[in-house]
Amino acid sequence: MTLRSVVIGSGHYLPEKCMTNAEITTFVDTSNEWIVERTGIQQRYLAADGETTSMLATKAAQAAIADAGIDPTTIDLIVLATATPDYTFPSTATQVQAALGIHGGAAFDVQAVCSGFVYALATADNFIKAGSAKRALVIGAETFSRLLDWTDRTTCVLFGDGAGAVVLDAQEGAGTNADRGVLCTHLRSDGRHRDKLFVDGGPSTSMTTGHLRMEGKEVFRHAVANLAETVEETFIKSGVSPDEIKWFVPHQANRRIIDATAKKLNIDPARVVITVDQHGNTSAASIPLALSVARHDGRIEKGDLVLIEAMGGGFTWGSALIRW
Ligand code: ACO
Repeated sequence: MTLRSVVIGSGHYLPEKCMTNAEITTFVDTSNEWIVERTGIQQRYLAADGETTSMLATKAAQAAIADAGIDPTTIDLIVLATATPDYTFPSTATQVQAALGIHGGAAFDVQAVCSGFVYALATADNFIKAGSAKRALVIGAETFSRLLDWTDRTTCVLFGDGAGAVVLDAQEGAGTNADRGVLCTHLRSDGRHRDKLFVDGGPSTSMTTGHLRMEGKEVFRHAVANLAETVEETFIKSGVSPDEIKWFVPHQANRRIIDATAKKLNIDPARVVITVDQHGNTSAASIPLALSVARHDGRIEKGDLVLIEAMGGGFTWGSALIRW
């Protein structure tokens, strides 16, 4: 028998404030046409003044816990992916732990920017497979609006705030691809590309939060190549072929990156979950947000084979195959 991390609940939360492309055109030199054509984004949600990453994360976690129908105190591991923590320390995960009334187990953040959820899922899955945790809450939550230079049209139109979460439960499987749960994960990074996507501040450099800076074209080029590579690794290691994937849930950075990656991998466009049009790029929150949206609108069903992938600053990238 093999221990599997089975998804027993999912949830998400978006802040109330929705900012359309039309609203952005009132303060930077851009247009709805440019943003839609280059990115597919039509709108994004922004956290209210005083609304922090842990607040968004707690609401997404509560929704996932309610969906799972479990007592939150049975959760013995919280792994939270974010690049926009409430504080330099303590971790945002411990803030969420306290807000949920959980006082046992372990809670910590992981930082892999847009790949954060894949990293967090792989981490929690390995804790479960090692027998170190029985029930894990895996969260991706961001307030990227706080990192943006709202006068820089090349970056401020791309991102939004939000949170998504899943509950993983340790269950015995047969060790085959027919098992429910996380079937495999692949993580990669290459720190030589730091300058292509980074934040120009931090506690031990500028002692400020800083702003996001990006070489968009370079990121785009690496994204399609790296994402195709990590997914092909998943196909080879798992023996699964593209036509067996019921739902492809990529990181929601840009519609053109998603379409190009799906095409390169021979994944049917009808099987691709897209939320970037509605949410913008919510970094580590984008995959759990999209998973929860597709689960709760009836697309993702129990037993479906779901493929996730992401790339982010670092560069970091990775993929995971989940039988829901
Ligand atoms: N509105 C209007 N014009 C703009 C805007 C804007 N918001 N932003 C840039 N432009 C202009 C540029 O100034 C440039 O003008 P010029 O030709 O007069 O110099 C022109 O549009 C073209 O700019 P490019 O940067 O070449 O445009 P490109 O087609 O590469 O699209 C984009 C830019 C959308 C950022 C694209 O490169 C991209 O999506 N890259 C991936 C970035 C990404 O997704 N990052 C997220 C984090 S990483 C991840 O999640 C994978």
